Amino acid sequence: MTKNELKHWVAALPKVELHLHIEGSLEPDLMMALAGKHQVKLPYANIEEVKKAYNFEDLQSFLDLYYFGASVLKDEDDFYQLMWNYLLRCKQDNVVHAEIMFDPQTHTERGIGFDIFMPGFKRAIQQAQQEWGQSCFLIMSFLRHLTEQSAIETLDSARPYLDDITAVGLDSSELGNPPEKFTQVFKMAQELGLKRVAHAGEEGPAEYVWGALKALDVHRIDHGVRSIEDPKLIAFLIQSQHPLTVCPLSNTKLKVFEHMHQHNVLELLELGLMATINADDPSYFGGYLNDNFFAIIDHLPIEKHQLYQLIKNSFNASFMPTEHKLDWLEKLSAY
Ligand code: HPA
Ligand code: ZN
Repeated sequence: MTKNELKHWVAALPKVELHLHIEGSLEPDLMMALAGKHQVKLPYANIEEVKKAYNFEDLQSFLDLYYFGASVLKDEDDFYQLMWNYLLRCKQDNVVHAEIMFDPQTHTERGIGFDIFMPGFKRAIQQAQQEWGQSCFLIMSFLRHLTEQSAIETLDSARPYLDDITAVGLDSSELGNPPEKFTQVFKMAQELGLKRVAHAGEEGPAEYVWGALKALDVHRIDHGVRSIEDPKLIAFLIQSQHPLTVCPLSNTKLKVFEHMHQHNVLELLELGLMATINADDPSYFGGYLNDNFFAIIDHLPIEKHQLYQLIKNSFNASFMPTEHKLDWLEKLSAY
């Protein structure tokens, strides 16, 4: 198959997305429209200027813009529109199931509570479910640059909404904020029956991946590409099959890898790790799930069976009930 044929084939396959920040799917046109609606002053005159600002040096330079961008999200309808736009994109890209992260503290710190964003998210999810059978779970992520106490308060505020939340996660500035800082709140989440994921080994060292596995007892590692620096960790991940939610365009935009041809996802996959492909923050990093597949097809010597394995892995790595997983894996094998 040519690269173009591989791209068409991947685009048509049913897929799962496991690492997607809903606030990172805020497109410049919606950002500008909401800024107008709420009279929020943005330092950009137009959409082109917003896009031009998306040149990042590292994770922190992105996060500064990402939190600033989220400040235009104010009422229930804004959160509905944000979620709805992403779900339309899922339909277009054949993403049949998505496990979507949201950052409550980005909003509660601005005085916008669960009673505003949760109904907005839920309305969009129910509509997509009814209209085309979209399947979705929500992952509530704690901001690791804030205190564990703030995460505990967030978990407390989420109590009335736990039926709609599948897992907790950990994101934001990794260096200097190791997983162990959140041991207690992850334990509390576990006791509430929530699944657990954490960003680790994106900018932080392999040691942080160990921390997420040991102190937070996570089911999956978000990113995890720096695991490669520790052979003992790699051996563990091959044996345990903890999934890694790898995000190629994110990693090159934030300079975890200088160029896509240096990306290690194919190496991780070939070593036998449970690697998956995801978009992270598609509006900021230049593409949605299919675009991430297209980028690795363009720049890595990846073959059809390896692409198939990555897609199959994300079904297996999801929190879907086993019978749904088996249904989808059977449908997938028909391709
Ligand atoms: N890393 C850490 N925090 C984040 C990210 C990421 O890639 N995206 C949104 N918040
Ligand atoms: Zn992320």
